[in-house]
Amino acid sequence: MSIAILDFGSQYSQLIARRLREKHIYCELFPWDAAQEKIAAIAPAGYILSGGPSSVYDTGAPYLPAFVLESGLPVLGICYGMQLLVHHLGGKVTGAETREYGFTTIDIMGANPFVETGGQQVWMSHGDIVQELPDGFSRFAASQHGILAGIGNADKMIYGLQFHPEVSHTVGGTNMLERFAVEICGVQATWTADRIIEEAIWAIREKVGERHVLAAVSGGVDSSVAAALVHRAIGSQLHALFVDNGLLRKGERDQVEQALRHQLGTDIAIVDASERFLTALRGESDPEKKRHIIGETFIRVFEEYARSVGDADFLVQGTIYPDVVESSAPDRSQAQRIKSHHNVGGLPEDMRLDLVEPLRYLFKDEVRAVGEALGLPHDLVWRQPFPGPGLAVRCLGTVNKKRLDTLRDADLIFREELIGASLLNQKEGGLESAAQAFAVLLPVQSVGVMGDQRTYQEVIALRAVSSDDFMTADWTRLPYDLLARAASRIVNEVAGVNRVVYDITSKPPATIEWE
Ligand code: XMP
Repeated sequence: MSIAILDFGSQYSQLIARRLREKHIYCELFPWDAAQEKIAAIAPAGYILSGGPSSVYDTGAPYLPAFVLESGLPVLGICYGMQLLVHHLGGKVTGAETREYGFTTIDIMGANPFVETGGQQVWMSHGDIVQELPDGFSRFAASQHGILAGIGNADKMIYGLQFHPEVSHTVGGTNMLERFAVEICGVQATWTADRIIEEAIWAIREKVGERHVLAAVSGGVDSSVAAALVHRAIGSQLHALFVDNGLLRKGERDQVEQALRHQLGTDIAIVDASERFLTALRGESDPEKKRHIIGETFIRVFEEYARSVGDADFLVQGTIYPDVVESSAPDRSQAQRIKSHHNVGGLPEDMRLDLVEPLRYLFKDEVRAVGEALGLPHDLVWRQPFPGPGLAVRCLGTVNKKRLDTLRDADLIFREELIGASLLNQKEGGLESAAQAFAVLLPVQSVGVMGDQRTYQEVIALRAVSSDDFMTADWTRLPYDLLARAASRIVNEVAGVNRVVYDITSKPPATIEWE
């Protein structure tokens, strides 16, 4: 049993799914106009209609598919979702005189399944409001400005919230979604890591049978957990491969090899393609071209390996749910390409390997929970993200072994200092702790003085960001003493560097990586 969320284009739609999953309730997000059969495949016990940027009166505005109300299942409409329900059921929606955006306090004035009586802080973001209720509906909450904030028809099990329970600023919002799912829809909260693993193993075995599977692991959380899951399902039918592209951090190849070999209990083929990558990158300084060269070279190396193994029919990919949702969501699919993330959709068509994607329906925190339940080392499960193109996008300008070595040494010092101060990858770190931290080698030189000597050497930039999802991020407020120690060590211990700067831009407007 599950909940189907129809996405009407709100920037918060994914959060509704994340909140329910946090409560171990299985749900999936569908574009509002998804085919009924697709939704039926998850056997929904109720629907949630998300918010969205439209007005119900806009021409071409997304509408409520008839089967939702015909199903007789409970429905919860949030913001635009609530307005749609009202519109379809004979009530009246109008443009608001005062647009509410941000924190608002609502008063609870009637019994309802979501909130106890009293005042409640919520997050509002809307233009239109509900002016007249459909027959059979009553209101149970209103904002300070008298705007209807909560309505329902208990007999029909249809409810509407004008505010956003999925946004963390709404106090108790996650509980509201949970109550809808559990108490009104009767869904059981059984979506735990053990259950995910059990279902994945069953599905992988059914898909793969006796055949063989290739997995390219990068040491990142997603590819490691995906490979470990597949290994749990089919054991020695899995062939894992790690490509050393010469763009790894210091000590990384050994760490990944050890962690995964031990965990997978199987050999990992290490393909040392570093010369090949560095040769392909020689002289190139354009960020997008660098990314493409790396993506292309990786595919060629991979194809050659696949041919040498010979009899594999499947390839494991660590695609996770946000990737899937982003590529199918309404209004966002046209999003501008900021950077080419080469591991998304870059596989050649002639490879003739079917994909096995055991994490396709999981959010990052679920992937981590599965990793821990599978016994993967804690450090690996909580590892900071590392981009597919590796240090090439942190070595600004041209990439060569000497520059990479300088970057690697500086990067290690910075990470050592952060780890020593327990300020890297803490679960609930806040703004003072980094979710991702690294050094960047700039393509400029600057003047310095060492002893009595003038120096003219390279500049290292340090980047540390605090973030939940890496889609937005803030620069980490690291202690000055730590920054001072890192800078002094880098200048003293790394030959050729005489200046260190700290990046204090957030994302947006900057991105996390510099290229
Ligand atoms: P940006 O720089 O776009 O990065 O703010 C957001 C997050 O994605 C990581 N990143 C990548 N990950 N392949 C990846 O697998 C890539 O090509 C890539 N580029 C950036 C980045 O480290 C950050 O965590």
